Amino acid sequence: MDRSVCIVGGCGHIGLPLGLVLANAGARVTLLDTSADRVESVAAGRMPFFERGADEELAVALEGGRLEATTDPDAVGRVGTVIVTIGTPVDEFLSPAIRAFDRAMEPILDRMRDGQLLILRSTVFPGVTERLARRARERGLRIDVAHCPERIAQGFALEEMGGLPQIIGGVTPTASGRASSLFGLLGVRRIELPPVEAELCKLFCNSYRYINFAISNQFYVIAERFGADFERIRGAMMADYPRMSGFPGAGFAGGPCLLKDTMQLAAFNHNDFVLGQAAMMINEGLPRALVEPLKSRYDLSTATAAILGMAFKGNNDDPRDSLAYKLRKVLTFECRRVLCTDPYIQDPSFVPLETALEEADVVFLGACHEEYRDLVIRKPTVDVFHFLRKETGDSEGLAAA
Ligand SMILES: NC(=O)c1ccc[n+]([C@@H]2O[C@H](COP(=O)([O-])OP(=O)(O)OC[C@H]3O[C@@H](n4cnc5c(N)ncnc54)[C@H](O)[C@@H]3O)[C@@H](O)[C@H]2O)c1
Repeated sequence: MDRSVCIVGGCGHIGLPLGLVLANAGARVTLLDTSADRVESVAAGRMPFFERGADEELAVALEGGRLEATTDPDAVGRVGTVIVTIGTPVDEFLSPAIRAFDRAMEPILDRMRDGQLLILRSTVFPGVTERLARRARERGLRIDVAHCPERIAQGFALEEMGGLPQIIGGVTPTASGRASSLFGLLGVRRIELPPVEAELCKLFCNSYRYINFAISNQFYVIAERFGADFERIRGAMMADYPRMSGFPGAGFAGGPCLLKDTMQLAAFNHNDFVLGQAAMMINEGLPRALVEPLKSRYDLSTATAAILGMAFKGNNDDPRDSLAYKLRKVLTFECRRVLCTDPYIQDPSFVPLETALEEADVVFLGACHEEYRDLVIRKPTVDVFHFLRKETGDSEGLAAA
């Protein structure tokens, strides 16, 4: 088996951990990325973003000479397998940006040669894999094409890749066989599906999670409205009751994947996806739902609000599509001043944690960073996640409405 791999988008949140795992499992990996900054950082042994355990794995892979990073697109033609991990966003109409994807694939197909294996690892709109295989055939390119979606949780990629079954969606049995042997390097179970089912498998996973978060968020808002404690109810619901064991807590369902993939599924089903669309209204409406009840108790127009944690999830440095920013937008409109802080994100407009706590009249938890867990906050505090251990808020200093 040819174990040379080029990962397109290889210095991103999905490409880079996959490259590290494959390289350290014996493949020869080239990370191709259009971001010269990320390529430079990886080549110098510095992770461009936070990922647990990746610093050590990167050092090992570079030292072993099994990993390189480049901006040279010709790297695509020099390997046996090309894996695509570029971003696949939705556009302003919440539809998948297919033309942007096509444009990105053009220079890759231009450089591919007969006999190579092309694996789409990015989350794609159903049908994209077969369509790509068709485009390759129309050019006279004889390659194998497969969709093998990534299902790790960002920040836990290295750990999870050693255990998660791999979904293998080859357009032909040969493509499936080749993709399956490559992922066999990870020592995990492989499950073969037709390409469209592999594509749907990934979209169903993310939409399912997104809808589940929406259920908890809706229950949270209902409980709050009637002065009930959602987390206490949730504890009672789950106690010694295995049927409720997967019931998530309330919190921000942000980030670059869940909403985007739910909308991809909606677009695929001709915008007929009531559950997914309702989940969007609930999850995206949560920041506003947290602020609104405060307005009847306090005069927010004279208040300074602080948001602790701006990343889209705890213990992470990724601000992409974080609902903490949507909360900032709501608070900017309602309050006199909004202070943001995050230990992982460099932003000149952010303030140190101490300043945020000292100057705030009201505090919101935006992301569950471990640094915040034991804080004693003697101010009104909104913690939708129920993450802070001690919450000793009182209304001192905050004018009543
Ligand atoms: N982030 C996650 O947790 C996660 C989990 C599962 C699946 N996915 C999917 O994986 C894909 C990538 O997501 P990500 O979070 O890694 O995005 P990312 O933005 O972190 O990484 C994409 C990388 O591709 C590079 N790039 C963009 N266009 C390129 C091109 N034409 N040629 C070469 N490099 C190019 C970018 O510079 C970037 O480094 C998406 O489809 C996403 O839905 C993401």
